[in-house]
Amino acid sequence: MHTEMLSAWTGEHELKTAAIERAAELLRAGETVAIPTETVYGLAANAFDETAVAKIFAAKGRPQDNPLIVHIAAFETLGELVTEVPQGAKRLADAFWPGPLTMILPKSGKISHAVSAGLSTVAVRMPKHPVARAVIEAAGLPLAAPSANLSGSPSPTNAKYVWDDLHGRVPLILDGGSAQVGVESTVITLADVVPRVLRPGGVTVEQLREVLGEVEVDDAVLHQLKAGVRAASPGMKYKHYAPRAEITIVEGTLAAFCAYVQDKDAFVLCFSGEENLFAHAVAYGKAHDGEAQAARLFDALRELDEQGAKTVYARCPDKTGVGLAVYNRLIRAAAFRLVRAPQPAEGTRQS
Ligand code: TXA
Ligand code: MG
Repeated sequence: MHTEMLSAWTGEHELKTAAIERAAELLRAGETVAIPTETVYGLAANAFDETAVAKIFAAKGRPQDNPLIVHIAAFETLGELVTEVPQGAKRLADAFWPGPLTMILPKSGKISHAVSAGLSTVAVRMPKHPVARAVIEAAGLPLAAPSANLSGSPSPTNAKYVWDDLHGRVPLILDGGSAQVGVESTVITLADVVPRVLRPGGVTVEQLREVLGEVEVDDAVLHQLKAGVRAASPGMKYKHYAPRAEITIVEGTLAAFCAYVQDKDAFVLCFSGEENLFAHAVAYGKAHDGEAQAARLFDALRELDEQGAKTVYARCPDKTGVGLAVYNRLIRAAAFRLVRAPQPAEGTRQS
């Protein structure tokens, strides 16, 4: 298949109508199109067309039991997709839509098995990115869209990475520049008695609690699922976000980290400003700055692969705020390898 790549902007603030129209036309005709969103790029298709949705799974090599998020541009559309819009959903939408928040609710009869992968619920998000919104509006359709990467590789934060993964597999990639947030949306289920975060993202658990009061965090956010346990969110059972390099997260202070990696001939995934301490380093944002780390993490993982890194030791992010999303992606990229570096004895020289 020939893949076309079109810029979605004419200038810094002006959308290219012809490119948006081309995308809308393909989507209405039952094709897939890769589009930018503020979190990561998505691979979109008409959410009401099962054949179109099947093309997403084929292009990505995505397991059939992993459901898709449906993207909308107006709150009113939510009513068509779910059996009922509870108060909590209204409050979350007021606070965080458009933006990096996905809500899971009991699905209506309009959502096919293909989209929900056989679950009785559907995931819905209203993206903020002007290109995503313009495409949804021009197509006049809700769009099912997972991240626009090959299944198993890191989510793409720019059009070049989409191209690397999907050229020859999709007819059109819309280039809308770099994704701002850099990790996928926060996924919260409202289908249980207590709202529960299934995947942390740009909207933090702390922010959700301010709006809803009690919010749980699913066990699978921080820990590997035990064999035989059913994942609340099927996406969480896959290794996911994985670069080719073997990553280990190293907890501890900078001094402890330096001492730990000193004799190892390996790459380091460090915080910005620490690069000069190591022979082979890729940085992923400043220490204690979850937003900056989220914006850099997936790019940094791809850069490690591009540089041929085989073994990588990573600095450990905080688990608060957006840092929780960073840790959640990094621990999966590391296949849950985590060690604690002992604090070096006082006076030990740090190289
Ligand atoms: O930011 C994002 O969410 C991006 C952009 C493109 O919007 N999309 C994205 O989609 O990350 P994807 O398919 O890569 O991740 C969707 C996650 C998966 O872990 C999936 O299992 C979960 O959401 N999910 C979807 N529908 C669900 C449902 N009904 N119940 C539980 N989990 C669901
Ligand atoms: Mg994905």
